[in-house]
Amino acid sequence: MWFTKPKFAANDLNMKKYFLLLIILISFLGKTIAEEGMWLPQLLQSLNEKQMKKMGMKINASDIYNISKGSLKDAIVSFGGFCTAEVISDQGLLLTNHHCGFDAIQNHSSIQNNYIRDGFWSYNKDQELRNDGLFATFIIRIDDVTASVLKDVNARMSEKERQSAVDKNIAALRTSTKKETYQDLIVRPFFESNKYYLFVTETYRDVRLVGAPPSSIGNYGKDTDNWMWPRHTGDFSMFRIYAGKDNKPAAYSPENVPYKPKRSLSISLDGVKEGDFTMVFGFPGRTNEYLHSSAIEQIVNMSDPAKIAIRTKALNVIDGFMRRDEEIKIQYAAKYASISNAWKKWQGEVLGLTKTNAVAKRKEMEASFEKIVLQKPEFNIAYMNLLKDLKQAYTDIEPYAYARDYYTEIFPRIEILGFAGQLNSLVNALEKNGEAGYNTAKDKTLASLEELFKEYNTTVDQKLFESLMEMYVSGQKDVNVSPLLKDMLKQNGNSYANAAASLYTKTKLGSLASIKTLLTGNAKDVCDAIKADPAFQLSMDMQKTYSSNVSIKLNELQAVINQLQRTYMQAQMDVFTQKAFYPDANSTLRVTYGNVKPYQPRDAVKFDFYSYMDGVMEKYKPGDYEFDLPQKLIDLYKKKDFGRYGVNGRQPVCFIAANHTTGGNSGSPALDANGNLIGLNFDRVWEGTMSDINYDPTICRNIMVDIRYVLFIVDKYAEAKNIISELKLVSKKTR
Ligand code: ARG
Ligand code: GLU
Repeated sequence: MWFTKPKFAANDLNMKKYFLLLIILISFLGKTIAEEGMWLPQLLQSLNEKQMKKMGMKINASDIYNISKGSLKDAIVSFGGFCTAEVISDQGLLLTNHHCGFDAIQNHSSIQNNYIRDGFWSYNKDQELRNDGLFATFIIRIDDVTASVLKDVNARMSEKERQSAVDKNIAALRTSTKKETYQDLIVRPFFESNKYYLFVTETYRDVRLVGAPPSSIGNYGKDTDNWMWPRHTGDFSMFRIYAGKDNKPAAYSPENVPYKPKRSLSISLDGVKEGDFTMVFGFPGRTNEYLHSSAIEQIVNMSDPAKIAIRTKALNVIDGFMRRDEEIKIQYAAKYASISNAWKKWQGEVLGLTKTNAVAKRKEMEASFEKIVLQKPEFNIAYMNLLKDLKQAYTDIEPYAYARDYYTEIFPRIEILGFAGQLNSLVNALEKNGEAGYNTAKDKTLASLEELFKEYNTTVDQKLFESLMEMYVSGQKDVNVSPLLKDMLKQNGNSYANAAASLYTKTKLGSLASIKTLLTGNAKDVCDAIKADPAFQLSMDMQKTYSSNVSIKLNELQAVINQLQRTYMQAQMDVFTQKAFYPDANSTLRVTYGNVKPYQPRDAVKFDFYSYMDGVMEKYKPGDYEFDLPQKLIDLYKKKDFGRYGVNGRQPVCFIAANHTTGGNSGSPALDANGNLIGLNFDRVWEGTMSDINYDPTICRNIMVDIRYVLFIVDKYAEAKNIISELKLVSKKTR
């Protein structure tokens, strides 16, 4: 205890000196930084560098973010806007997750070339596969533009007035900011719109598939292991950025050349041990770390449970069909994985928030906030009623938020309702833009329906209708239920099965062929026929009911909350002056860092921080949908043929650390103290998924695949020596 009462405390003058000294000492030490945080790369130097070095980092913040010379940030891209990838060779080779590249892999797959099942490897650049619509975005520069964006904005403005002033200022900023023609500008709000940053970006749109392991490696353990530790998944795939001859962004062309990066990552073969420094660099999507306790209560008690219950029903229906029918299993695999991904995460979230007493802890924080506010007159004026108002606002919004969760979980699961939405765009196009508009819309709609129907089975959909509509009616207030649906039920003796059967028999929206028939003829007749379809009518009525009874009021209340949360964010920063704050994730580039650590999920259970191929083999179930393995991998394991990638006869596979990550961080590089690539982020542990709302250092861990497992698969399993020869491998040990 260094803070014991000093002997000279009785002496007033000495006492004052003592406190003065203490204050100087505190300000010298700088702000306290918790173990959590998704930090802005351009602020690392001023906020985090000292702590990062204390935790073991050997490089400088200026090696991570530097606008005057190549730095680590120049090797990181937003991959398609939904994941992260990194440049790992001087020929634009990209590394990301298997589940991030999955769409591209799926699009190139067929019965003859089943790359999902068997993997894909290009052994020279001619074999690499183009992917229209896929892009890689680099961040060139990040500027604080708060003053320009908030010019003429004041506290008396309504949310609407504020937004229009902000929009105007951003538009002006766009014209006044210098950039090259091939660059883009993005302005984003931070800290609940208390701050704004501008990003100068470069987007490359010729991104080709280079390699992917079979799903039995890249998605080993599938849904059973998802969000779980210990993990044994080789969740990676490889792409390459192509550029014009001038190395600038260019649309796809066979003439394009491999992109020469400003910086590519070196790869360390040395791995990490307990306590080692790691950092993850990427594009985290969305977090809510600064909520009022009543918002967290609402998530735990209302929102998550409602969404989980609806998805449980949907997943049971789909799973039932997938188990019986091989074709449906393939058709619904991606859909099932995506529904179950969030479903499982929410369960972990509720568990974690409950277990760590997140609500009680937030209430404690609020109590100390109020105490400080009461002590200072200027805080009194600005923040006196803030917590009370926030609590009230969350009480007000609760019934509407519940109705929103019901609607947004049920409506998109019954796909026929979505097809109606697609056809409605034809009706709108004819009304707005006449025949010509209709014809363009028709081509587009048909193309998108072609895609949707590849992964659609009307029997499954009918069963989903039957099961989910029952929840839609019985799970929420009667006023939020579509009157048309109530009529349909009445006409069918209140049987959901009969109502579903009758609707799916009558509608033309249940198959692509019948939709095509529906769309033949002149525009006006077609639109009349669309409007007469019972599934179309139901879809429109559900949307109308929702928008008039729920969404108008919901948006109003949400605007109140947004304004209060913005004040509350500023208030927290004003009140807790010793704390360093990081902004919530918003899909912009961030750095998070933490040490390699085991964790204890519950009493008497401790999880180690490394997994090995022995664990891959322990889980192996021949012929199983989730835990089957390719024979070649088993053979390599049996021969212990791990090359330079094994350690003492064992092949490392995955590891965990205390990095604060979220969705969007998939594919992010895990870097060691020297900034070398050691792994690839792809998941979080079950008990720690609540880190989006409340990071707890005792149980929040991110999961990474060890880069040596990636290299072992590329080198030994795929024998893609061409890829290995491009990489810059470093090691302190002789191998
Ligand atoms: N949970 C990880 C994420 O949120 C991995 C998801 C992909 N894997 C899966 N089995 N669905 O994206
Ligand atoms: N799998 C997630 C993603 O696709 C990352 C895991 C997480 O949410 O932490 O971005």
